[in-house]
Amino acid sequence: MARAKIALIGAGQIGGTLAHLAALKELGDVVLFDIAEGIPQGKALDIAESGPVDKFDATLKGTNDYADIAGADVCIVTAGVARKPGMSRDDLLGINLKVMKSVGEGIAQHAPDAFVICITNPLDAMVWALREFSGLPVEKVCGMAGVLDSARFRHFLAEEFEVSVKDVTAFVLGGHGDTMVPLTRYSTVAGVPLPDLVKMGWTSQEKLDAIVQRTRDGGAEIVGLLKTGSAFYAPAASAIEMAEAYLKDQKRVLPCAANLTGQYGVKDMYVGVPTVIGAGGIERVVEIELNKDEKAMFDKSVDAVKGLVEACKGIDPTLA
Ligand code: APR
Repeated sequence: MARAKIALIGAGQIGGTLAHLAALKELGDVVLFDIAEGIPQGKALDIAESGPVDKFDATLKGTNDYADIAGADVCIVTAGVARKPGMSRDDLLGINLKVMKSVGEGIAQHAPDAFVICITNPLDAMVWALREFSGLPVEKVCGMAGVLDSARFRHFLAEEFEVSVKDVTAFVLGGHGDTMVPLTRYSTVAGVPLPDLVKMGWTSQEKLDAIVQRTRDGGAEIVGLLKTGSAFYAPAASAIEMAEAYLKDQKRVLPCAANLTGQYGVKDMYVGVPTVIGAGGIERVVEIELNKDEKAMFDKSVDAVKGLVEACKGIDPTLA
């Protein structure tokens, strides 16, 4: 059987890391596309030259021509600009919206059957715009945020409890921004929900609240440390997990920005929710019952995303 083809649109910090991970995991042949000349070609060659050492079989090609993504099974989009200290994800909206237009058109023309994972921020608005510009089926276009947000949450929890990250599960809902909703009662250590762990004296409510806040600010914490850009190792690993779920029809239950058609009381918008990812793309949205406080937090997050989508429509009238 022929190898899968993975197109990475954007060959910056995340794009390069995606290419490396995809090759190491032998998910398929990789095409790195960027408007910057030399960067995708250089990164592709550099990673290919690590193949004999790491013993992976995958071809890597760098390109500035959309024609080279033809027939891609998966497209992962990181094209655009990243945050600098002091900027919010929302500050990127105007410039990255224009990028989504050209990327959406490129994918529609050359890889209309691909499963598309958007990473460009502000995530929930950009994935919505990318879907609109590309015209691809909604179940084939999604955004990577929840896997990353819950990974950050799991890391902080594992550190606090001094247990393996493998035994910590976390549940994060809502937009990828300051209003994201980490759900403590659905987050567990080996099946024991966090509120029970507070009762058992494993941690205090104050410490748990601080971890929830640190999760919300997880992206900004990295931006503050790096100063020249934003996180890339964990975002890339997260998107690769989603791509693998699609390529191997794993039916993984993963949180991601998915188009809602009435679930959680939301219609025609992309928001972070638990989904099932398999060969059909986003095969199912998992709708859980929220209590009053959780619903209020979720609605606030949805409103923030709505505001950004409206701003997109204001900037580009073809979206209205
Ligand atoms: N088409 C293709 N590539 C583009 C375009 C475009 N129209 N515009 C910019 N790019 C490329 C840049 O040349 C750069 O190589 O996108 C790449 C972005 O890389 P970085 O600046 O290193 O950003 P990165 O850290 O990879 O983050 C990318 O993901 O998490 C989000 O907020 C982050 O929006 C940002 C995106």
